[in-house]
Amino acid sequence: MHHFEVKRGELHCEGVPLRRIAEAVGTPVYVYSHATLSHHYKVFDGAFAGIPHVICYSMKANSNGSVIRTFANLGGGVDIVSGGELARALAAGAPSSKIVYSGVGKKIWEIEDALRRGILMFNVESREELETIDAVAGRMRKRAPVSLRVNPDVDPKTHPYISTGLKKNKFGIHIDQAIRDYEWAARRRHIEVVGVDCHIGSQLTEISPFVDAAGRIRVLVDRLIRKGMAIRLIDVGGGLGITYNEEIPPHPRQYAEAIVRAFTGLSVTLVLEPGRVLVGNAGVLLTRLLYTKVVPSPKGKGKKHFFIADAAMNDLARPSLYGSYHAIVPVAGTGRGRVTADVVGPICESGDFLAKDRVLPPFASGDLLAVMSAGAYGFSMSSNYNSRPRAAEVMVSGSRFEVVRERESVRDLVRGERTASFLAGRKRKS
Ligand code: LLP
Repeated sequence: MHHFEVKRGELHCEGVPLRRIAEAVGTPVYVYSHATLSHHYKVFDGAFAGIPHVICYSMKANSNGSVIRTFANLGGGVDIVSGGELARALAAGAPSSKIVYSGVGKKIWEIEDALRRGILMFNVESREELETIDAVAGRMRKRAPVSLRVNPDVDPKTHPYISTGLKKNKFGIHIDQAIRDYEWAARRRHIEVVGVDCHIGSQLTEISPFVDAAGRIRVLVDRLIRKGMAIRLIDVGGGLGITYNEEIPPHPRQYAEAIVRAFTGLSVTLVLEPGRVLVGNAGVLLTRLLYTKVVPSPKGKGKKHFFIADAAMNDLARPSLYGSYHAIVPVAGTGRGRVTADVVGPICESGDFLAKDRVLPPFASGDLLAVMSAGAYGFSMSSNYNSRPRAAEVMVSGSRFEVVRERESVRDLVRGERTASFLAGRKRKS
């Protein structure tokens, strides 16, 4: 469900025509619907209403401060993976008591910062990391709240780049070794074992991998409790998929039922780390076509169209990186009929496309297009490749819209850059 709809022949976000945003702010621009963000959060939260839980929004999906604040205002916490994310989460009003820290490569300063702030827990991904956290906490005379991220060896049946819960992945501690590491952790003075964590992958469209993983975690939790460990938090990660094209992912209610069932009879608080399901369909990338061109079809019959947009793989990497599908929707009326086209950006790579061999209206240069479902892993994965300033971000609420991140300028591109002293001041050879 989302609030991007055609009204009076024009695509709107809530009460605002996207055309107006493009005219005021320029393109490319990410546009987020506050109503959709809130709705998604409430549906997800409501699904777990029957059990103590904390929703720690996985901010890597979209780190804009206004997005984080939307969820923080609704009572949410944050799942972070870096010191940078910690700083942004706190600046956006997330309480440190609802921050969980995941990721395989936490640095000492990042661990110190998180300890100083008093986060809810560290999700620890290796024995060496555990040892480091123990040592850092010791130096700071603190006790670090820890859960081990367990790798349950479950196939999430998603894209290989975003599968994380298989033995061959770099993530987590294998479930068979976990007991040994838990016993070690429980003996350390500066570690407090508080929970168990797992995250098996992203954009899951079936319920069974979640059920399998939760079942394995339950077995582990029971063993840890029998060994006298006070497990009070069970973090099941994120990963619930969304509809980009024709996928039919489980409803948050179904997902919640399956998870809750796996942990019945325990007095624990569930920690959830949803990312995409909260923000994915709450955002679009708005782009204007610069040029069109038509070439003879490489297949020999008919013509192939290229629609050259002002957004590129640096703005939205997902199609190039994973071959992901994002629907392309006209913002206003177009000519009649249909053509087969690639929607591409200005970047000098053939891998720079937003859509490939897509049946689309016969767009013309100057037309505005909305690249749908771009709220998750869109702006947050964008880069400056080809020295392209990053796009602006706008949030809509009702009939209002505001820029929540300015478009980068060309000056921003060279911020921090210096000419090497041995090059400066040299005369050019003619
Ligand atoms: N928790 C952990 C530990 C994670 O690594 C992730 C995502 C999440 C939660 C949130 O997962 P979600 O609910 O969003 O599926 N760039 C890729 C997705 C990478 C996901 C990384 N981890 C994409 O564009 O599809």
